[in-house]
Amino acid sequence: MAEIALISSHLPWAPLPRLVPWHDLGDGTIFNAQVESGEHPAAVWPDIAAVRANYLTSIEYVLGALSSYVERFGDDRLVMIVVGDHPPIPMIAGSERPRTVPVRNLSAAPAVLNATDWNWTDGMRPIRMLQSGRCRILPPSRLPGPNKSLIMAGLADAHTMPVKPRGDFAAPLQGLAPHLLPLYAPLLPAVRGGSFVFGQVGQSLDGRIATRSGDAKGVSGAAGIQHLHRLRALSDAVIVGVGTVLHDDPRLTVRECDGADPVRVLIDPNGRAPNTARVFAADGVRRIVFQRADVKRPAGVDVIRLDVQDGRIDPQVFITHLAAYGLDRIMVEGGARTLGPFLSAGALNRLLVTVSPLIIGDGPSGLSLPEVPNLCDCLRPDATFFDLGGEMVVDCALRDQDIGIANRS
Ligand SMILES: NC(=O)c1ccc[n+]([C@@H]2O[C@H](COP(=O)([O-])OP(=O)(O)OC[C@H]3O[C@@H](n4cnc5c(N)ncnc54)[C@H](OP(=O)(O)O)[C@@H]3O)[C@@H](O)[C@H]2O)c1
Repeated sequence: MAEIALISSHLPWAPLPRLVPWHDLGDGTIFNAQVESGEHPAAVWPDIAAVRANYLTSIEYVLGALSSYVERFGDDRLVMIVVGDHPPIPMIAGSERPRTVPVRNLSAAPAVLNATDWNWTDGMRPIRMLQSGRCRILPPSRLPGPNKSLIMAGLADAHTMPVKPRGDFAAPLQGLAPHLLPLYAPLLPAVRGGSFVFGQVGQSLDGRIATRSGDAKGVSGAAGIQHLHRLRALSDAVIVGVGTVLHDDPRLTVRECDGADPVRVLIDPNGRAPNTARVFAADGVRRIVFQRADVKRPAGVDVIRLDVQDGRIDPQVFITHLAAYGLDRIMVEGGARTLGPFLSAGALNRLLVTVSPLIIGDGPSGLSLPEVPNLCDCLRPDATFFDLGGEMVVDCALRDQDIGIANRS
């Protein structure tokens, strides 16, 4: 008996293998040329229709390989059970993706086919080749009835959402290592409808974002900074609090990878940021400031006046306003007093923590949250770890529907 894992139906679905004649198979190196000449994931992933088509092609390849094996080598003693181990990610299967997976019996052995206590249903029975008496399966596009609906179930309820022009998504993914695609996949088109809001913190091994005296330059290394810029390029808008502007005067532009700059959003209820701050720079990108104070802002900056209750604005209010602009992939870049309320209000889908190998010893942390008395009261998100090369991203899913986008692909 052999258990064989066929992994080409896993992410990133590019480059895809093509079936070759059995007698050309040799030691498998024939597939190397297919890998080299195949599509790069970055060319496929910005386009949800292309990702879905490639997913389907990968399934066709797997089923084609299995059915070809049965046809060529199978006899009445062969029992082949094909089990899908889990549904694909929500951008393929939809956010309400079923947990069920297809089980296929490709056996010609009558004892297995007719075994009633295995509870086969019609949809799980192989399609027989009546003339030969042997069984085979067809590519999904040619499968009739229940078999087809099993394969296609995930695609039918996947929904679409407005997308940026394809090029805007392809550019930041150029040269990306395929193992990092699940990290950015939630930002790509059509993963979900509605807003997708995530926080990003860059910190040391001991959870600091700066020294006590405020030196924050160089906490993240080159890989961490490129990751941050890639996130900006894939986001519609980036939010920072006024403390960050006063301290760092960030540009919030995309410089360490290709891609479009996000809309810059500043939360400054008391109008403390100077009009010379780089977040307001007139560089063709939309700039939005949330403030209560009657402070005049540079021409072209959208000022949204909000009431502040007890010194706080409910983070959901920012998200709702940005959604009205059509901005729904939103990165909250910090600092701690901006990100903390988003997290404790349940306004984040995900939290990304980039950890760099340095130990600062003392200094501020990247999240300001209310104290919890016991560890059993703390947040324990479902986390996936990504190796950036010298630095690491901990990708925390904060809502049930987000769990598994990355790690069960
Ligand atoms: N390592 C990283 O990833 C990273 C990223 C960004 C920033 N940082 C660091 O973070 C530090 C700044 O953080 P910070 O916590 O001091 O400041 P901050 O979070 O940047 O800004 C906080 C201020 O923004 C306003 N604000 C934010 N959310 C609000 C809300 N929901 N309601 C009302 N007002 C709100 C308030 O302004 P008022 O005070 O006027 O009420 C608040 O005090 C800097 O040292 C910077 O270097 C690190």
